[in-house]
Amino acid sequence: MDMQESNKPVLLSGVKPTGEIHIGNYFGAIKQQVDLLNTDTYQGFIFIADYHALNFVQNGEEMRRLTEDLAITYLACGLNPEKVTLFKQSDVSAHTELAWIFDTITTMPYLERAHAYKDAEAKGKEVSVGTFNYPMLMAADILLYDANIVPVGQDQKQHIEYARDTAEKFNRIFGETFVLPEPYIMPEVAVVPGTDGQKMSKSYGNTIGLFASREEIIEKVMGIVTDSSGDRPENVYAIHRLLKTEEELASLYEEQKGKYKALKEALVEDLDAFIAPLRMRYQELKMNPVIVSEILTKGKETARTVSEAKMEKVRKTIGVA
Ligand code: ADP
Ligand code: TRP
Repeated sequence: MDMQESNKPVLLSGVKPTGEIHIGNYFGAIKQQVDLLNTDTYQGFIFIADYHALNFVQNGEEMRRLTEDLAITYLACGLNPEKVTLFKQSDVSAHTELAWIFDTITTMPYLERAHAYKDAEAKGKEVSVGTFNYPMLMAADILLYDANIVPVGQDQKQHIEYARDTAEKFNRIFGETFVLPEPYIMPEVAVVPGTDGQKMSKSYGNTIGLFASREEIIEKVMGIVTDSSGDRPENVYAIHRLLKTEEELASLYEEQKGKYKALKEALVEDLDAFIAPLRMRYQELKMNPVIVSEILTKGKETARTVSEAKMEKVRKTIGVA
């Protein structure tokens, strides 16, 4: 990394490889992150949070496939690996090392207040230690890189607060070591509805894949739930609005008032036009896994260099080195 780069604020975010990427993930998170990074304002780090995902994905083949897919997704969506460090969390052991150190200065009651833990508890699940400690691994992810800005969805805001609190607590006990990160809550304008009108989510089976084939798009769009009460099928319109402005859609929805099939066909065309170039880049990278692994190797080296320098200070500070 050159000197000029290091003067820029650090932007970091992580994504879990837990399922097929859908257009909700794209408009709600990926696009916004890539747009921010492309402004060149930041020194950027995007990592695949495979150790976080291990709480959910406990099958080696599946983990490998989802991880590669996620790296390809970011590249297909325009992340520039020359400018942004793209890496795998598990490639940098400092993350789990620092998480342990944080565990020792963190109390159980404090972690018991985490939403994710409370929700799992409320559902009567037996919560794994990994799920309980999730916020400490996430704090390590963030604090290792002196991240200033962490773009996440609203649901992750509390985790960023945990990272800030942990940085403050460590600094208070051992002296100034960590930068306090700021959350950047990505605008909610993009809560993407699924084919059934609920929030699009892989857990609800109502998604449209970001790299869907034309046939898949047709199947999904024709399956969008419409109620027969109004002239405008709201669930069709809401997805359409991601691709076109209100003005652009006004005449179409006026002309085809009440004709749900024609409106769905128009949405198929617009979705296909939007997805086609992404799908092409995705397929190219899928056929050239060496390109992807080279990018991740380069990312690993950069991430290790930055985080190892930080860990040397931390180890000295706590007296183990
Ligand atoms: P899912 O809900 O399918 O399990 P994740 O929880 O893995 O998706 O979400 C990954 C990222 O994508 C998060 O930052 C989340 O805020 C964003 N995201 C997921 N679904 C949507 C949606 N329907 N609308 C907007 N953003 C979404
Ligand atoms: N917990 C985040 C999510 O579920 C993923 C994540 C892990 C993350 N480590 C991070 C996000 C560090 C931002 C910074 O979406």
